[in-house]
Formats: sequence, C-alpha cells, structure tokens
Amino acid sequence: MTDYFSDETGLEVRMGNIVLKNPVITCSGTFASGIEYSKFYDVSVLGAITTKSFSLERMAGNLPPRICETSSGMLNSIGLQNEGIDYFINEQLQEAKKLGVEIIPSIFGRDLDEFKKIAYKIKNIEEEIIAVELNLSCPNVAEGGIAFCASAEQVGNIVAATKEILHTGIIVKLSGHYNNISETASAAKKYGADAAAVINTIPATAFDIETCKPKLGNITGGLSGPAIKPVALLKVFELAKENIIPIIGIGGIMTWQDAIEFIIAGASAVGVGTANFIYPECGRDILQGIKQYMRRKNIGDIKMLKGIAISNIIKG
Ligand SMILES: Cc1cc2nc3c(=O)[nH]c(=O)nc-3n(C[C@H](O)[C@H](O)[C@H](O)COP(=O)(O)O)c2cc1C
Repeated sequence: MTDYFSDETGLEVRMGNIVLKNPVITCSGTFASGIEYSKFYDVSVLGAITTKSFSLERMAGNLPPRICETSSGMLNSIGLQNEGIDYFINEQLQEAKKLGVEIIPSIFGRDLDEFKKIAYKIKNIEEEIIAVELNLSCPNVAEGGIAFCASAEQVGNIVAATKEILHTGIIVKLSGHYNNISETASAAKKYGADAAAVINTIPATAFDIETCKPKLGNITGGLSGPAIKPVALLKVFELAKENIIPIIGIGGIMTWQDAIEFIIAGASAVGVGTANFIYPECGRDILQGIKQYMRRKNIGDIKMLKGIAISNIIKG
C-alpha cells in the first residue's frame, strides 16, 4: 500500500506567520492535549493539535449532565472545565511535545486582564508552541466566552494585548452565533491575529420528554457535529469571500470529503472536533483522504484548492 503519510508535498499551509506542514488540526476540547489519542495512532502526522482551552485558574465546569446526543450532532455544556494554564505548562507540555506534533494551546480569560496574565505565562514557553488560540466564543460559560464575539472592539482589544506580550502566532476562535463575523475577524486581523478559527459550537438545548426536564444540567449547551456543518460552511464562505484573514474551517467535519468542502469554500486549514469522540483516528484518515483526492484530481498544491468554489461562483 502507498505510504501517503511520508509524502507531504503540496500540503504546507501558511496563515500569516503560522506555517503548518499540512491543513489538518484537531479542535480545542475534543483532543485533550493529544497524549491520550497517541494510543490510537501516531498523532505526529497531524498539522497541529489545539489543546482544551485553559484558564488562569482551574475551572470546575458546569453541573452534570454535561453531554447529550442529538440527531446528527452532540450537545455539550462542559463549561470550560480545565486544570488551569499552569497545569498545562508544568504537567502536560513536555509530554505533549514528545508526540512530535505542533501544539496550539487554547486559552480563555473572563476579561482582558485574565487574558494578559495567561499570555505572560505562555511567554515562558513560546519557543515550544506554534501559535496560541484565543477562545473568544465558548457558549457555555457565564462570563466572557461568546459575549466577546458580540463586540469587535473587545476582540480587537484582546488580540492587541496578546500581541504586545507574545511573538508566537495568534488564532482567534470565533462564534457562528452572531452576524458580525466580518467585523470581529477584521478587528482581530487589524490588531495582529494570523488566523481565525471558525466556528465554535452553536447555543442549543434539548429536553427529556419522560422527566420533562432539560437534558443538560446547565439547561443550554453548544451544538457540534454534522448538524452544524452547513452553518459553519456558510460562515467560512462569507468570511473567505471578503478575504479578511486566513481561516481554519471548523464545524461537523467527519470525513475527508467534509474537509475538502471547507477548503473549497475558502478555509486554509480544517479543524476536526466531535468526530474524534466517534472515531479517534479520524484526523489521520481525513489527511490521507485529502492527499488521495489531490492525487486523483492532479492538484499539486493544497493552495490551488482553497476557495475554488468562490472563484467558480464569480466566473459563473
Ligand atoms: C466536548 C466539547 C468541548 C469543547 N471545548 C472547547 C474548548 O475548550 N474551547 C474551544 O474553543 N472550543 C471547544 N469546543 C468546540 C470545538 O473546538 C469546535 O469548535 C466545535 O465542536 C465544532 O466543531 P465539530 O462540529 O467538529 O465538533 C468543544 C467542543 C466539544 C464537543
């Protein structure tokens, strides 16, 4: 069998100052820090791993139950449960580095000051990471989270403050919930972000008809998986048409065909999330599928695929 993994030709992705060997990234909150998943496959084949979002201090998260299945998707209300950024830096980073894959810590602050404090901590490990992702869009937390995405000014302020502290790449994780994604992405770009990860989960809920109670302890949660793919594709397409900032397309990517769809809609790279829970090796197989598709279509460079659907619409 052809060893598709050894041939990385034409897969390199450049997003501002961030250079990845290929476009397949795992999404925050769905791959931990990669260590557990390395039992399933050699995760060094991936373009990068994005960690769970880490806050300044440990966060306990929301009341259980915090996960439930929906038709063609899942709802979660984890509420950013995490052990805090010091835990990542002191207990996980060295282990994760041994995996031989680029690491993107995702960080979350309840306000600008917390983002800055976390950025100062990240400064000590800047050489060991390829970028930092600012989670400005979690729908399951009482403070911060999705509210940041409601304001382009807030997004700009957080990016500007982070950029003053860090030299590493900056990715903003945006929500598909508001209709201002162009403004928030423009503000992020203006103040120094290299890429936008689009989208986070979408606020949603579910009820149990036997108990007549909400299925989630938090009542509401974030919808992810195949159900959100068309919504995410539209956000990526709209943003890509305006050519504001390189995009990491996220939302319901389960197969290589889904990944290609995001790339032709304008994404430079793709994030694989919920699929990891169903099929842990999906990142590896999505990458292999992309390579086989490129060979079959005689596409020498992934950049040639990016946004093809947009050019086709313009050409008519
Ligand atoms: C259980 C779970 C936890 C998540 N935790 C985070 C998180 O900590 N930070 C973040 O930015 N996004 C988080 N997300 C959102 C994902 O990174 C991704 O944006 C979203 O799930 C949509 O992609 P998907 O449909 O491929 O899962 C989480 C998603 C799930 C399902």
